[in-house]
Order: sequence, then structure tokens, then C-alpha cells
Amino acid sequence: MAQRIAIIPGDGIGKEVMPEGVRVLEAAARRFGLDLELEAFDFASCDYYLEHGQMLPDDWFETLKDFDALFYGAVGWPETVPDHVSLWGSLLQFRRRFDQYINLRPCRLLPGIQSPLAGREPGDIDFYVVRENTEGEYSSVGGRMFEGTEREIVIQETVMTRHGTDRVLKFAYELARSRPRKKLTSATKSNGIAITMPWWDERVAAMGERYPEVAVDQFHIDILTANFVMHPDWFDVVVASNLFGDILSDLGPACTGTIGVAPSANINPEGTFPSLFEPVHGSAPDIAGKGIANPIGQIWSGAMLLEHLGHREAADAVVDAFEAVLTEGDRRVLTPDVGGTGTTEALGRAIASRL
Ligand code: NAI
Ligand code: MG
Repeated sequence: MAQRIAIIPGDGIGKEVMPEGVRVLEAAARRFGLDLELEAFDFASCDYYLEHGQMLPDDWFETLKDFDALFYGAVGWPETVPDHVSLWGSLLQFRRRFDQYINLRPCRLLPGIQSPLAGREPGDIDFYVVRENTEGEYSSVGGRMFEGTEREIVIQETVMTRHGTDRVLKFAYELARSRPRKKLTSATKSNGIAITMPWWDERVAAMGERYPEVAVDQFHIDILTANFVMHPDWFDVVVASNLFGDILSDLGPACTGTIGVAPSANINPEGTFPSLFEPVHGSAPDIAGKGIANPIGQIWSGAMLLEHLGHREAADAVVDAFEAVLTEGDRRVLTPDVGGTGTTEALGRAIASRL
């Protein structure tokens, strides 16, 4: 039976990089004989909002829930729709309603890309950040009282549940176990945040009993961010709460060079609902319409999608293909953010034909 993938380009360069992501998915399907059925949607974009007064149709949940995966570009066009409206009305709805409780980002230095960290070569940086994506510090529990007076009070509570914490830890341990180094690092702050974070550490230790082959360490979040910069080679899989993971999952990819190549996945591991795969970058209004956005973030997200759907070999072949094109370093093919003079389409075509 065909696996169904919803194609949602969104806004700005999302509409430019998505065709290249699709081109490479289709090339992978041809080479490996995969039965993928792609269906495109124009909602979850600011153009849709301007026409309909909302980011999504009323029946979006029913429309999307039986897809095997969602392939997303980027959302946001602040000139016409405020960012909190476009983001909360689309991407955050998908993450919540489809219980995509894992946010997964590989942080890997690719050939031909200059790391902002001096002296780092491909192979030196190769780890994953696993972020809890549904609870923790990002709760709506709290409020304001005595607004505008000298007594003004504002409270926002962190909410961590055993269910929510254990399931993200399980995913992280499983991922660590599947990798050659089998190493897990936990982000904590149990010195300062003295209620939830010591509890988080206890859950890390308890889950670790089931994975004796995985070596575990932990750092307070402040020194952990410093170590991402000073010793990125220390890390293999890093697991973190929602807030800490948010920070680490931007810092990690930043240590590997251009934002245009970083991919991410929002995963519902049980497959009760579709998972969503998207580049880390946004809609980049400053370069939208010029045809020069780097499509590798979208293409690499497509590789993560293939792996999630069980096509490991095809996923690896996509990664090999864009690494080969980057290694070749033909400036006429590479986009300007990685030192070339090429276009989004030229780079996408080069990767697809290599595949
Ligand atoms: P951005 O990621 O869109 O752009 C930041 C900078 O990186 C810009 O200078 C841009 O030109 C460059 N850049 C981004 N992707 C690139 C690519 N593929 N190739 C070459 N250069 C690239 O972030 P920004 O400017 O903060 O946000 C713009 C819009 O995107 C906003 O509306 C924001 O809300 C939205 N956004 C959406 C995200 C999503 O859909 N997941 C994530 C981040 C921002
Ligand atoms: Mg972030």
C-alpha cells in the first residue's frame, strides 16, 4: 500500500525549496522502488490566511490525520500576518494535535561548509538534539494579577509529567543505543531549578537502568551551551526539556554553519498521528523570490522523513547525494550562502541526479 505524504510548502522560500525537496524524494522513490503518494496543500500559509481569514481550514485535522507524514516548508510573512498568528495557527497546531512530542535535530558538520567554530572538520561534530516538544516550561498554567499596579504579579508554572518525561527519555535512549558511540547527555539545571530538575535527573537515571549499554552524563544547561561551542566532539545524543531543548536545538545546528542546511523532525513515535519534517530555517523574506535559497535543509528533512517511514537505505542515499555535491564544491551549482553562484533549482537538480 502506498505511503501518503502531505506536501505543505507554506510561505516565502518554503515555496522555493519544497519543489527541490519533492524532486529528491521522487528520485529516491524511483531508485529504491518506494510507493509514495504525494498530495499538495496550500493551507498553513499567509496567502491562505489573507483569502480565508484563518491559517487552516476547519477540517484540517480530519484531512491530514491519516497521512503517513507531513513534509513542510516554512511559515511566516510578517508584512501581512503577525508571526504569532501564522505560527500558532499552523505549525503549533500540528505539533500539539498530532502529539509530536519529539523534536529531533541532527547537528552535523558537512563537507564544504565552514563551521563558525575555528578548526573544526567534518566528522568532529555529529550529534542529535532530542527536545521534549509538548510540556515543561512552555505551559499555559499561570496568569497576571493586579495588572498595572505596584502589586503586579506574574506566574507561569513549569509542568513536567512522568508520562511526558519518560517517553522523551525512552526515545533518546533508543536513539543513543542505535548509534556507534552509544552516549547520552542530559541537560539539567538541578542546582538552580531545585524541584523539577532534580526530578528530571531521577527519571534519566531510572530510564537508564533499562539501557545498560548506553553511557550517560549530564551538564547544567549553562555550561552545556558553552561545551557545545568549545567541545562539540563530546556529544552523541543530547536530551533536554522543552526550553533547554529549544535553545540547544538552535545552537547545535548554528555550530555547523549555515542555517540553510539544517533539518528537523517533529515526531509522534508511535505513529498514532503523522510526524512532520521541516527545515530549521523560516520563510526568509529577505531572499524570497530570488531563487537562491539553499534547498538542503528541505532535502535533508526529506531524508529524515524517509528514515521515519522505514526507508533507511533511501534516507542514507539522499544524505550521501548532497554530501557528494557539497564535496565536489562546484560554485556554479552551490547557492550563495555556501559560497556559490548557483540557484535553488540548480542545487536541487544536482542532488537529484547524483541520487
Ligand atoms: P529565517 O530562518 O527565515 O531567516 C534567517 C536568515 O537566514 C535570513 O537572513 C535568511 O535569508 C537566511 N536563510 C534562512 N534560510 C535560508 C536558506 N535556505 N538559504 C539561505 N539563507 C537562508 O528566520 P527569520 O528571518 O527570523 O524569520 C522569517 C520568517 O520565518 C518569520 O515570519 C518567522 O516567524 C518565520 N519562521 C518560521 C519557522 C518555521 O516555519 N518553522 C522557523 C523560523 C522562522
Ligand atoms: Mg527555536
